[in-house]
Amino acid sequence: MTRKFSLLILPGDGIGPEIMAEARRVIDWLGTNRGLDFTIYEDLVGGAAYDAYGVALSDDALARAKQVDAVLLGAVGGPKWAGVEYDKRPEAGLLTLRKELELFANLRPAICFEALVEASSLKPELVSGLDIMFVRELTGGVYFGEPRGIETLPDGSRRGVNSQVYTTPEIHRIAHVAFDLAGKRNGQVTSSDKANVMESGLLWREEVTKIAEQYPDITLDHMLADSCAMQLVRAPKQFDVIVTDNLFGDLLSDVAAMLTGSLGMLPSAALGVRGGGAMYEPVHGSAPDIAGQGIANPIATILSLAMALRYSFDCADEADLIEDAVRSVLAGGLRTADIMQPGKARVSTTVMGDSILRALDHLNTH
Ligand code: IPM
Ligand code: MG
Repeated sequence: MTRKFSLLILPGDGIGPEIMAEARRVIDWLGTNRGLDFTIYEDLVGGAAYDAYGVALSDDALARAKQVDAVLLGAVGGPKWAGVEYDKRPEAGLLTLRKELELFANLRPAICFEALVEASSLKPELVSGLDIMFVRELTGGVYFGEPRGIETLPDGSRRGVNSQVYTTPEIHRIAHVAFDLAGKRNGQVTSSDKANVMESGLLWREEVTKIAEQYPDITLDHMLADSCAMQLVRAPKQFDVIVTDNLFGDLLSDVAAMLTGSLGMLPSAALGVRGGGAMYEPVHGSAPDIAGQGIANPIATILSLAMALRYSFDCADEADLIEDAVRSVLAGGLRTADIMQPGKARVSTTVMGDSILRALDHLNTH
């Protein structure tokens, strides 16, 4: 069976190109050692695209993103583009991709690798064995709701407006993703909203509850988003799948990410309607403060590639292999700066990449 896939690589800004270079080496490794035949395209996104084309995503890049099996993105943004108009900012490139590809389901696993238990800001016993799956709605809510904008009022003061909007189909489809995933995990979904103050949150709660009726084996509970933030740092292991809207998902997944030791560890998948495209990216940002120094952690990007293998390419064995390689390199004591601990060996981005490739070689032949 030939396994042929197409992939668009968008390294983006800041540390994006550095971490993506390591992921590319893993892609090459998969070609050589596992017979996966990738057709790779590469383009600019974010500030890099703005500098080159005056927009955060060119029409060409968008067309390519729609045509390939999956997109692998590094990171976008940086202080350099802080003054750029909203619709041309680096972040707009990312939001356009999500919206245009209709990538409504953002899966953000927060898994604590055993070797990193001590790197968490929480006590080891609270995070050891942690495995939460965030299901964040990604194409609706306040990120895209209308009306929006900044207006000047008659008295000269200004008013900023964004709208939190959700429709029942939007809620239903993300709820299905969460319940389906929970069925393959521990059968427990926590839905998070602010139904106590927001009508859109009340609707969210009612509609998720309706969908739950189709999944008699899954336990559903509801948690207000503020309380959920608190529970995530108090007793994070109580969660299995957390389903929530775009904005709360953005916030809560960063909290959960940090429980695992570093944002530099966490991959994500943005999935759309069946048969449509998909996009994979690390949860962390472009980290402009450390860009170009060769010290960024490439693991989240490499694990994002593993998610692509699992969810888009149906190559679960290769995804397992990559995850095992990462686990073994961490167990061997190698650390990039963000996950450095006393007594461990601090390594650069490329040395971390080298070590993962060596671990892959080893695992593949043993
Ligand atoms: C994320 C990021 C993005 C978001 C930014 C870069 C637009 O924080 O993917 O979590 O807010 O969704
Ligand atoms: Mg975020």
